[in-house]
This record gives sequence, C-alpha cells and structure tokens, in this order.
Amino acid sequence: MTTSVDRPQTDAERTVSVTVNGVPREATVPVRRVLSDLLRDDLGLTGTHVGCAHGVCGSCTVMVDGDPVRSCLVLAVQVQGASVTTVEGLAREDERGGQVLHPVQEAFRECHALQCGYCTPGFLVTIAAGLEARDAAEEISEEEVDELVGGNLCRCTGYANIKKAVRHAAATMRDGQ
Ligand code: FES
Ligand code: FES
Repeated sequence: MTTSVDRPQTDAERTVSVTVNGVPREATVPVRRVLSDLLRDDLGLTGTHVGCAHGVCGSCTVMVDGDPVRSCLVLAVQVQGASVTTVEGLAREDERGGQVLHPVQEAFRECHALQCGYCTPGFLVTIAAGLEARDAAEEISEEEVDELVGGNLCRCTGYANIKKAVRHAAATMRDGQ
C-alpha cells in the first residue's frame, strides 16, 4: 500500500517515492527538505532524532539501501527510489504478529546502554548496519567495536555500556547463525 501526503507540486517541490521500513511512501516536499525532516515531519517517523543538524552527532542516522547515513545531511530528493530503514524498522514481526527486537536493541536493554535515549536511535541504526555488514561468525575485535561507536555522540551514558552492548549483540548474532 502506498501512503501519500497530498499537496500540490510547485516548481520548488518534488514528489519523493521511497520505501521506508518495507512500506512504499510518497511525499511532495520542498527540494531543500532534508531526509530527517522528511521522515519526522512528512512521514511521522519521529524515532529518528536530530541533535546537531550538522552531521556531527550521529543521532539522525538511518540506513539507505543498507548503509548508515546521517539523514540531516541528505536531501529527501536524493533518496528517490531507495530503501530506507529507520529505528522503527529494526524490530521484526514474529509468526504471531508480535515484535522481536533486533539483537542490538536487545543488547542495549540488557547492558543498560542508554539513559535519556536521545542519541539511542542513531547508535542502534549505526551499530545494526555495521554488524549486519560484517561476517557474524568472526569474533568482534575491540578496534571494530571502537569504530562502530566512534562516530556517534552520547552526552549521558558514557561509552562503556554502549561498547558492552555492541559485544553482546555481536555474540548474539554469532550464536544465532
Ligand atoms: S543531527 Fe545529524 S549528525 Fe547530528
Ligand atoms: S543516552 Fe542521553 S545522550 Fe545518549
């Protein structure tokens, strides 16, 4: 099913069609609208947080065709035809229609890897993308863990528990193979 935001299209606007969390979506937006605003304001997916709006903090990270990107730095028109995954799309449905958390979400809960949670969606998406891109059978190294969390900022938890959660999620993904 395609859901659309029905607005007249002017010269300074474009209609963007994009698959978000597996659902085809469409919105007519100003050509300068950034992806984070498209997701939050036009499509109502407020799980993606905007911290700095300058590409520094990583809280706005989403996956575009599987790669983590800072949605505050990407124009909405640039994702035309792409597949976007936000934090709302990390959990999957089980056979009874219930939600099964992504191993990274489960690990954050287990390891107390968040406090206020503002940075959390960005960390979850960044780490999920990184772990999904690597060979799960390989033991994760401390260098890999540092690299996975090093581009995102958290002002309250501290990184020890976030790194613990990365190791925990990597182990879950290895054992779940
Ligand atoms: S809000 Fe995008 S990197 Fe900070
Ligand atoms: S948990 Fe508060 S900013 Fe990271």
